Amino acid sequence: MIAERKDDHVRFAAEQQRRLGGTNQFDEVSFVHHALAGIDRSDVSLATGFGGIDWQVPLYINAMTGGSERTGSINRDLAIAARETGVPIATGSMSAYFAEASVADTFGVIRRENPDGFVMANINANATADKARRAVDLLRADALQIHLNIIQETVMPEGDRSFSAWAPQIEKIVGGVDVPVIVKEVGFGVSRETVLLLRDMGVSVADVAGRGGTDFARIENDRRRDADYGYLGGWGQSAPACLLDAQGTGMPLLASGGVRHPLDVVRALALGAAAVGVSGGFLRTVLDGGVSALVARIITWLDQLEALMTALGARTPAELTRCDVLVHGDLRAFCADRGIDTGRLATRSSSYDSTHDTVEGIR
Ligand code: FNR
Repeated sequence: MIAERKDDHVRFAAEQQRRLGGTNQFDEVSFVHHALAGIDRSDVSLATGFGGIDWQVPLYINAMTGGSERTGSINRDLAIAARETGVPIATGSMSAYFAEASVADTFGVIRRENPDGFVMANINANATADKARRAVDLLRADALQIHLNIIQETVMPEGDRSFSAWAPQIEKIVGGVDVPVIVKEVGFGVSRETVLLLRDMGVSVADVAGRGGTDFARIENDRRRDADYGYLGGWGQSAPACLLDAQGTGMPLLASGGVRHPLDVVRALALGAAAVGVSGGFLRTVLDGGVSALVARIITWLDQLEALMTALGARTPAELTRCDVLVHGDLRAFCADRGIDTGRLATRSSSYDSTHDTVEGIR
């Protein structure tokens, strides 16, 4: 049953990617163009650090799959692409492994193909600390991701219906593993309030995983006989909205959800993300074109990321948070309602103060 669900997710997510419209809320973030801001490309470094983690690049392959033969071979391809390009990679939820140990290698293949890379094991918020340790051990994982997916579970025909144990369980997991814990959504975003709760539980990093790309309300609805939850499509906050909302919380942030190209990566970094993850878009590339297509795509993205940082005058991903950014449309209305000062974002390069090296405190 779990294996079938994992195959469904891949099939529906890939179909969704092929149907996705061209726009999302990343388009409501633009840079003020400063014609003399450019620096030398040789001075640009993509390295990033956050919550006790150091990566050579601010881009990663986010959680997707494992648990069936087909998804095991997809994980193999994703792991090879990660190894060839040096990007970190996450497994999909390892609940299938907890239910049936024989599928271990559909996850373990990620470490086997990528022995020296940064690997994240992914579990749900119901998992015990013991299961969390088993997941980390199987992968020799460098970090643990815990996913929050209330809306997905609600629409999933066979999904969970009890959620109150999640918060205390996350605290137990944090106390029970010796790798950094990243808590992520699955495409509905995290609010400022959620980020503050996670911070106070001792979670190292929050991955906002916002709306605008893969939509698990729609995917699970397609798996329902009556498809009667169609109205939940589009639920949640976008990654840019989440990043703006969570400024000033002091929590290291990763951004994912609806990232389409290197400009979206740069936008997310400028809004305070330490690195940016992609799932559905990279899945589609690997399914349509194989490993070589994904390797080529990631290399192009990293190259263009450096090019954009050079033009914007940012020597590091963190320096993008000094760039002047304009917020438009519905995102601007969201900021107004949530008390976020967008005017300060638009003028921050000239008011930059080296004693405040981040965009924290923009409220
Ligand atoms: C996912 N995602 C996901 N997340 C997670 O934490 N555990 C999981 O098992 C899965 N499974 C999964 C399967 C497939 C096929 C896709 C495409 C995605 C969610 C993923 O990590 C990410 O948060 C969302 O997909 C939003 O990012 P994109 O797809 O818009 O880049």
